[in-house]
Amino acid sequence: MSFSLSDTPYRADTPEAKRAMYEDLRSQLGGMVHGEPDWIANTANASALVFNSMPGLNWAGFYFMQGKEELVLGPFQGKPACIRIKVGRGVCGSTVQQRATIVVEDVHAFPGHIACDAASRSELVVPIFSADGEVIGVFDLDSPLPGRFDAVDAEGIESLVRLLEKTRA
Ligand code: SME
Repeated sequence: MSFSLSDTPYRADTPEAKRAMYEDLRSQLGGMVHGEPDWIANTANASALVFNSMPGLNWAGFYFMQGKEELVLGPFQGKPACIRIKVGRGVCGSTVQQRATIVVEDVHAFPGHIACDAASRSELVVPIFSADGEVIGVFDLDSPLPGRFDAVDAEGIESLVRLLEKTRA
């Protein structure tokens, strides 16, 4: 299996380095979405910012709820991906069902994992909430490296999602 990783300006080898990176990303994303209410534009820029900044990713993007039962592919960076995912299926659909972030260290050990890209080995999926508390989608990060994501990444990506949610108010 071969894969290429994008060349990124940050290190992610210590919790401190990760926290510093997320602080920077919050400030960059805050600047990008400032005064801009367009959800597609803001989520497209967020996926590009994260994909081109964080080391070790092969996919970063959004799925949005369509009705109550299904996620549909939104703006992303990486290879073309599965278009529709049922609530409860795979890591993304489980995140919607559980209304909570899921970190998967090894996708091969996650029952029902949907392999859009066979190179993916670990995954972080964060739910996105509407102002009235409904899950409206997820932000999904994939890596070809096993165990790429931890609690610091979960917290960091959640903080970026909170920024995006505010632009919908
Ligand atoms: N692996 C995901 C599907 C989405 S792709 O990785 C982009 C899942 O199990 O939900």
